[in-house]
Amino acid sequence: MIGVFDSGLGGLTVVKEIKKFLPDIDITYLGDTARVPYGTRSPETIRKFAEEDTKFLLDKDVELIVVACNTVSSLALDVVKKCSNVPVLGVIEPAIKKALKISISKKIGLVGTRATVNSNAYKEVIMRRQASMLVPLIEEGFIKGPEIDLFIKKYFSDFKGRVDTLILGCTHYPLIKGRIDNYLGRKIKLIDPAEEVAKEVYEIAKDFKGTSKTRYFLTDVNERFLETAKMFLEEDISDKVDKAKI
Ligand code: DGL
Repeated sequence: MIGVFDSGLGGLTVVKEIKKFLPDIDITYLGDTARVPYGTRSPETIRKFAEEDTKFLLDKDVELIVVACNTVSSLALDVVKKCSNVPVLGVIEPAIKKALKISISKKIGLVGTRATVNSNAYKEVIMRRQASMLVPLIEEGFIKGPEIDLFIKKYFSDFKGRVDTLILGCTHYPLIKGRIDNYLGRKIKLIDPAEEVAKEVYEIAKDFKGTSKTRYFLTDVNERFLETAKMFLEEDISDKVDKAKI
């Protein structure tokens, strides 16, 4: 069984990708919906939360931990590794590896939460922009239409003509990848860390025996979250959700 955690529900984009590669795998997901967002918090707080999230998954006997959250991967992957006795994968390394592989000019950009962008992670990028506002907008369902296009213009226009590859360093951005692509045009290639980490999960877990069971633990459960989860995963998870106490 593999464990996946995120600050909230955005990490379901990673679960979705993993299921594409490993449809039979058993997954325990933890979404810290009571304390989301992490991306606007201090590194100390993010590191503390990351440790608690990791311990929760280890208690569930997971055999691999996937840190779906870009913010945690940027600021606390060492914390997760230190308290784990199982392999740990974050989303940064797989994204960087892919970006370096496909970028011709080696001019790589990063967009993510304020915490991710201000961290020392993603050293190879030449330009970084925070786009924290996209998280609540996407969670409110603004994944197409003039509102999201306005914010995409605001946050992404600087990248035009300056990079040839852009890492979408936040769990929520895959939902608006098509709109971003549309705005930036063919000259900028987009990297989705969820896709890249899923490929690495496959390499480690391809021989795991599973029964396609996924359990979702949320630190706060309410109707709204279940709606949002449906949007991220394109699946109704209401009967698979448990309240997590961490
Ligand atoms: N999951 C976070 C990330 O990928 C976005 C939401 C948050 O700020 O917690 O950075």
